[in-house]
Amino acid sequence: MDDRLAGYLKTRRTIPAAQLGEPGPDADTLRAILTIATRVPDHGKLAPWRFILFDAESRAAAVEGLTRIAETHADEAERQRRVQKAKGFVDAPLVIAVVSTADPGHPKIPLWEQQLSAGAVCLNLLHAAQAHGFSAQWLTGWYAHDEEAARFLGLKEGERLAGFVHIGTPQMPPTERDRPDLDALIARWQPER
Ligand SMILES: Cc1cc2nc3c(=O)[nH]c(=O)nc-3n(C[C@H](O)[C@H](O)[C@H](O)COP(=O)(O)O)c2cc1C
Repeated sequence: MDDRLAGYLKTRRTIPAAQLGEPGPDADTLRAILTIATRVPDHGKLAPWRFILFDAESRAAAVEGLTRIAETHADEAERQRRVQKAKGFVDAPLVIAVVSTADPGHPKIPLWEQQLSAGAVCLNLLHAAQAHGFSAQWLTGWYAHDEEAARFLGLKEGERLAGFVHIGTPQMPPTERDRPDLDALIARWQPER
């Protein structure tokens, strides 16, 4: 067994994006991270995902646009919640949108399987960031599910946001959180008699 790898996987913990500071990955490191991120199980080798990068230059404009969209919401409380949440888009030096480009009409590979592969990309991104000395958080938020926001952020018709992965240097040590009761999650199948 690889003790270091098992040790990492056993203790992996997300550090909140608001606690991820400079530096973020440089161009070469980012490429290495994205290379790992795309090395995921992918039924049919469709690569049904892509990335949109939000770095220092573009993130302020993204927040401005998301705030504008948030301000059009009819409900006052929801409007305020969305405006507040939009500010979090600039947490961490780099934000990577993982976009599912899954094709519902694919003749062989079900949509669900293609979408699961996008989730695998997000998790691999977390591992890849960590392997390069950074930390990362997988987030969504209202702007991941709002059509106008999705269009504004560069998603094309039919695409879906799998996650925004915020990457930076941790400003705090990880803390533990409750984990599910493993035994409650395991069933042993038996044939009906
Ligand atoms: C698809 C997806 C979306 C998520 N969106 C959010 C979010 O919007 N806000 C949030 O606080 N955590 C969100 N999380 C949870 C965090 O990524 C993370 O799992 C959590 O902060 C800590 O868990 P960990 O330390 O086991 O990674 C999301 C997780 C997944 C899988």
